[in-house]
Amino acid sequence: MAKMIIAGNWKMFNNIQASIELVSGLKRLVTANPGCEVVVCPPFTSLEAVGNYLKDSPIKLGAQNMHFEENGAFTGEISAEMLLSVGCVYVILGHSERRAIFGESDELINKKIKKALSKNLLPIFCIGETLQERESNITFDVIKKQVTEGLAGISADDMLKVVVAYEPVWAIGTGKTASPAQAQEVHAFIRNLLGQLYNSTVAAAITIQYGGSVKPENAVELLGQPDINGALVGGACLKADSFNSIIEAASK
Ligand code: PGA
Repeated sequence: MAKMIIAGNWKMFNNIQASIELVSGLKRLVTANPGCEVVVCPPFTSLEAVGNYLKDSPIKLGAQNMHFEENGAFTGEISAEMLLSVGCVYVILGHSERRAIFGESDELINKKIKKALSKNLLPIFCIGETLQERESNITFDVIKKQVTEGLAGISADDMLKVVVAYEPVWAIGTGKTASPAQAQEVHAFIRNLLGQLYNSTVAAAITIQYGGSVKPENAVELLGQPDINGALVGGACLKADSFNSIIEAASK
């Protein structure tokens, strides 16, 4: 059975002070054993402070991006080692904003996933179709390409450490959520594809999160779908109360 994981992607929000305020609210609300894994992904500048603050808490720390090289002359970039040194356990890779705004390709994302895995950082690998792709009825082709190319050359053993996040681009930050049936259909497709690329054990064990306007009002129904094993939350993770409600929904 796949583990239920709720992750909060803070994006480019919160300086150190605001980060500690948000996470202190969560620490108060998240109980020791919430029945799901909880991950927060603050911006780079807050990682160390949040990591220190969370030391004795079950909440895990994640980053939002990293570079695929070990180190070197890559001005403005952050390496896997650097993330590990501030306590990161997870790293979001291939988010649609990275793909669309910063031109990240499947090939580049594949390099990042491989680097993260070689360092024992757990990738949250994001995939999803745009509205135009959905309306052109090529959602499954797009997902298949992203999965196949993003995971090229990754062994079954390593794959067990990867979390997949299905985030339809048209649902991110728009308030428009995929219906539970729409999300489940794609999640089942992804799991089936993982079964073909790897084997049934891997397919069953992989956490496939849904992301795109997840909020307390829709979390129970989305997380109740058989192939949805968690959520990657943007907007609704920036308030402790709403993020906690989603965590509660996942614990049910
Ligand atoms: P949203 O963002 O919840 O604000 O739609 C999700 C994401 O980008 O991961």
